[in-house]
Amino acid sequence: MLRASRRLMSSVATLRIAQGIPKNKVNSLGFETRKNLLNEIQSANKNPDIKAIVITGSDHSSAFSAGADITEFNATGEFQSPSLHELIDVLEGVEKPTVAAIKGVALGGGLELALACKYRVSTESAKVGLPEVHLGIIPGAGGTQRLPRVTQDIKFSIGAITSGRMIKAQEALGANILDDVCPKGEELDDFAVKFAEGKTSASPEELAGRNLAKKTVEGDVEEMAAICDAALERLPAPAMGGEAAHGCVEAIKASFDPTKSFEECMKTEMDVFMNLLSNSEQGQARRHAFFAERIATAPPKGSPKVDISGKTKVGVIGAGTMGSGIATCFLRAGYDVTLVDVNEKGLERGRKIVGRNIEQDVKRGRASQAKAEANIARLTPSTTLDSLAGVDMVVEAVFENLDLKKKIFKDLDGIVAKDCILCTNTSTLDIDEIGGVVDNPGRTMGMHFFSPANVMKLVENIQCKHTSPETISAVTAHTKKISKVGVLVGNCDGFVGNRMVAPYTGEACFLLEEGASVQDVDGAIVDLGMAIGPFTMGDIAGNDIGYLIRKEKGWVEGGAGDMRYTDLPDTLVTKFGRIGQKAGKGWYDYDPNVGKGRIGLASEEVEAWLESERGDCKDWNEKDLVERSLFPLVNEGFKILEEGICDRPEHIDIIYIYGYGWPVWRGGPMWWADQQVGLEHVLEMTTKYHEKYQNDWWKPSQLLVDLVADKKGVYEWANEKAKARSKL
Ligand code: 3HC
Repeated sequence: MLRASRRLMSSVATLRIAQGIPKNKVNSLGFETRKNLLNEIQSANKNPDIKAIVITGSDHSSAFSAGADITEFNATGEFQSPSLHELIDVLEGVEKPTVAAIKGVALGGGLELALACKYRVSTESAKVGLPEVHLGIIPGAGGTQRLPRVTQDIKFSIGAITSGRMIKAQEALGANILDDVCPKGEELDDFAVKFAEGKTSASPEELAGRNLAKKTVEGDVEEMAAICDAALERLPAPAMGGEAAHGCVEAIKASFDPTKSFEECMKTEMDVFMNLLSNSEQGQARRHAFFAERIATAPPKGSPKVDISGKTKVGVIGAGTMGSGIATCFLRAGYDVTLVDVNEKGLERGRKIVGRNIEQDVKRGRASQAKAEANIARLTPSTTLDSLAGVDMVVEAVFENLDLKKKIFKDLDGIVAKDCILCTNTSTLDIDEIGGVVDNPGRTMGMHFFSPANVMKLVENIQCKHTSPETISAVTAHTKKISKVGVLVGNCDGFVGNRMVAPYTGEACFLLEEGASVQDVDGAIVDLGMAIGPFTMGDIAGNDIGYLIRKEKGWVEGGAGDMRYTDLPDTLVTKFGRIGQKAGKGWYDYDPNVGKGRIGLASEEVEAWLESERGDCKDWNEKDLVERSLFPLVNEGFKILEEGICDRPEHIDIIYIYGYGWPVWRGGPMWWADQQVGLEHVLEMTTKYHEKYQNDWWKPSQLLVDLVADKKGVYEWANEKAKARSKL
């Protein structure tokens, strides 16, 4: 069966990547696709009636190609023949005009394939890029060699390849990556065929001059080497997530080495690529994170399909920083938003916050002035809940008070339509209770946005005992539409992220009691690659919040029972008023003149106080700091899986990467424990500390115990569980 379809219009053949393989949603260049495309190219090349070839995306996909098929990557680096290299070599060797017609995206191997064509054209909205660095590898099919040759710009090439960014059509045209852009309103296919027809009279010399393998990178070699060295200085160190980015620069350096032939340059690229593919723990973690994000944000298997395209009216209740941030997200995505607050003063504040957020979009080049104005124009401020009568969905974001939230839901019940989805934004409260007050509670759900909501990508979508499968599908789709990473979790105290944080910050405080400094603990966590340590996190979130939660639980007044308890974080708040960055002092001091008051400076007051509290006790060594802080967090993650609060470990990994600054190159806390530390060691230490301290958070999760006994990884466990479920 002809898979890469050929359409003959005059003397130009149009070949479509992955045509007839609808399961290949993004035209990735897997074995079957490579094989079909190679056959098509060879037969078009042999056919004397065909004077030029256009290569474009398939009818079933909006992409030209997303590059190599990542699912085919394995440590041996072996790809079934024809490899992408073989395909590209044949394409580049065609002596007829070849034109890549790019719609959607041409990424990684997709762009590398396009660079092997003599010419490239695209739609106005197309984007190209070499994002391999995000997968912990480098472009491995000539991208590091052909991009510098086509652009003749080492600085640009380094920037594009080490950032892996998407390059819009007009910029790509300016950089010489594209030869023309199809005007709006014209069909790309027709445009590309006309372009190719115009090249059928090109001389063999002109065509040979378009072959990038025959070109060199012109310029002062020393200057270009200096640009590479400067880039290496700026990049994260190899041990801190920068392995692949450093590899990119190493390969790019070969591109302008006058002593190297093109084949030798390609060999350098291949050596670096293979080394990273086979040996890089960072790369494995990054590729895990790529697929984990897709798993964690997909609706559960078998979910009903729900069409949200007409559901564009949203109400947001509460015009504080959180509510206004949430309103901003919906406005940006084209929704009509009614923002409700109790009085004009509150609304005015909210209006200002939304306005500022949207102005920032223009300043940062994320939106045009016209788009920003259109977004703002869709905001309707109101002081009455009645104004929400016609909305399709409500996100309530008033302050954390259960009775107030329940009252608002009850009131809404009499105002909005019976199928209007009702979500509450909370980080702590019981969604079952809030959802339970309305008729038809199947339409209720929690949405835990992270602060600042207009910036942070993560939303924990909380399914409560009432939530219907249709509501889950709809909320999942709305979350995606507002460009958030929405992860479905169950209802429990702290949900997933904050529930795991509690033992982490708790244990970090014990380390202070045992002689560590605030900087020792934060430093160890940052050295592992996390954006911030637990004490900086406390200062940002507000130490008063944790204090109020402990007070509510009765722990502050001595109600912690047999559990080991330290009052250090309570004293920090009650005696010293060190509630965090907002007060200019917390575990650290903050000076408004240093980093706008956001950089933690060692505090003499805190150090002297801690010194007086802890005597000379020291029950840890440097190596223990990371494990003491993070193993309780990981252990809690296993308990969350065991209880079914999260379906798979990927959900936890993605929550931590997007919500808590976990480094993507360590794959998330469950990946770190499972793949980088080893579950056996996690269990051994958890058991040891549980015997010593008796704290609940050290009590090993039964799932962890079982997995170690069965010598099974947590991802293997999740796969087996999913397989068993699919057989039911
Ligand atoms: N290989 C295999 N599967 C891929 C893929 C790829 N390169 N790119 C996307 N997919 C899959 C996704 O896993 C997803 O599968 P699912 O539906 O079963 O979960 C499906 O295609 C759709 O992807 P998205 O949900 O991400 O769709 P979006 O429309 O949101 O995004 C995209 C499309 C922008 C193309 C995005 O998928 C993407 O960024 N893909 C990766 C691009 C990339 O990194 N390319 C480089 C590959 S490595 C390479 O080419 C090496 C070479 O140099 C040798």
